[in-house]
Amino acid sequence: MWTKLRRHFEAVEDRRFETMLDSARASDFTASIGDIRLDYAKTNIDADGRALLIDLLDQVGLAEKRDAMFGGAAINETEGRAVLHTALRNLDGGPVTVDGADVMPAVRATLDRMDSFATDVRSGAFKGQGGAITDVINIGIGGSDLGPAMGVLALAPYHDGPRCHFVSNVDPADISGVLRSCDRATTLVIVASKTFTTIETMTNARTAKAWMSESVSTPAAQFAALSTSEKGTAAFGISPDRVFGFEDWVGGRYSMWGPIGLSMMIAIGPDAFRAFLRGGQDMDRHFCAADWSENLPALLALTGIWHNQICGYATRSVLPYDNNLSRLPAYLQQLEMESNGKSVKMDGEDLRVHSGPVVWGEPGTNGQHAFYQLIHQGTRVVPCEFLVAARGHNDDLHHQHQLLVANCLAQSEALMKGRDLDEARSKVADKFKDEELERQAKHRVFPGNRPSITIAYPKLDPFALGQILALYEHRVFVEGVVLGINSYDQWGVELGKELATALQPIIEGGDASGKDGSTAALVDFLQMHGV
Ligand code: F6P
Repeated sequence: MWTKLRRHFEAVEDRRFETMLDSARASDFTASIGDIRLDYAKTNIDADGRALLIDLLDQVGLAEKRDAMFGGAAINETEGRAVLHTALRNLDGGPVTVDGADVMPAVRATLDRMDSFATDVRSGAFKGQGGAITDVINIGIGGSDLGPAMGVLALAPYHDGPRCHFVSNVDPADISGVLRSCDRATTLVIVASKTFTTIETMTNARTAKAWMSESVSTPAAQFAALSTSEKGTAAFGISPDRVFGFEDWVGGRYSMWGPIGLSMMIAIGPDAFRAFLRGGQDMDRHFCAADWSENLPALLALTGIWHNQICGYATRSVLPYDNNLSRLPAYLQQLEMESNGKSVKMDGEDLRVHSGPVVWGEPGTNGQHAFYQLIHQGTRVVPCEFLVAARGHNDDLHHQHQLLVANCLAQSEALMKGRDLDEARSKVADKFKDEELERQAKHRVFPGNRPSITIAYPKLDPFALGQILALYEHRVFVEGVVLGINSYDQWGVELGKELATALQPIIEGGDASGKDGSTAALVDFLQMHGV
């Protein structure tokens, strides 16, 4: 199924795609849902390539697989689970059944409970020992941290609730800094863990409880929990009325739409949180209804497949020209790499193409002054994904926002156009002559023909954030289906966890002689220096 696409790539590989970019292509290679626009015109995908890529979606039965996911089938086959984070944002949709039972009444009831708890925390009706809550600490890691941490920052202009802090790392440097900045008597600690067994989270939660108990008489009363484990939260001593549960069909990296989003709901308020959910639901509906040629998640996935599996570009850079999205690259690293970093297919066969790409990035314009050098002149091609809003949240500084937008568009233009030797020569002809002119000019050549896509939207509000995140989630789903892998398990994180557990007693003074030479020598060195 890949052969035709590879042949097509070989035929067009050296073409400069800029030469195709007239206004007809600009509109043909752009798709929208409401006000969100995906522009993939600055790529080497042409109409034939797109048709072949869309064929791929039909060959792998994407529509049936999508419907199976939304319909509650156990598509996470290695764990025997449904994949239904979409139910968490199915605010006014119909029933969603798992094993014959509609899950929506429970989803709505939990959302209502979150809503009333968040309202009480925000209004001061829920109090700590010292009065109204001023600080919320979310303790969680991976999907139980990255989603709400990224979301609270993304929606900072809508943040009118208590301050929110996020503790994830088992490194004591993380929690100690946060605890130092909070007053025990007015702090709410939220322990966010799907399993309630994750060692980093449970260690930090115990540290927070010990800290709280230094001056709060009933520390557990200032704790809430977000988990699928009633047993675990009860054993920790958290009262069931402050436990917000969810089901195992919500994957960690897809969980910010439900209870794991509680800190975000407390920060921005239940109404704004529901607007975020509605944005996600809007993208779900579009994904289920639009033809592939107009379907944003499908098209975004096709650019990914084209660049990674066909062109062989190993990474992709996410570059939000929206400072409030500064944690989006980290969030997408988990979403994409934990989902599609697999080398065995659902049927147990080895994957014969590359797995998903390395995802990385930083907000613009900062990245321009750091790593864009390599993107423009390095030997490897890095497909770039720009995100940009028409308006920021500081109307008094709109001219500064315009400068940001100009930089964003300039980068995609520069990547595409590049600068040839003649132009480079003319830039320095007044300074150098002859051989030195040739040498200096060569350093100033930009190869160009480097692909990028741009996602543009009017303003980063809760609804738009919901649309954007659901767009990326479905992109991951589509790419996973094309690769034939299970995007919803994460067995690759287990081995390190097991070995860390085995190493702990050795680090604490045990005998490292059974370990490989390098590990044993490192243990010796660290012990010598006081570990
Ligand atoms: O170790 C990986 C992982 O399982 C992620 O998939 C998950 O988001 C994270 O750990 C945290 O898990 P939990 O919410 O169960 O603490």
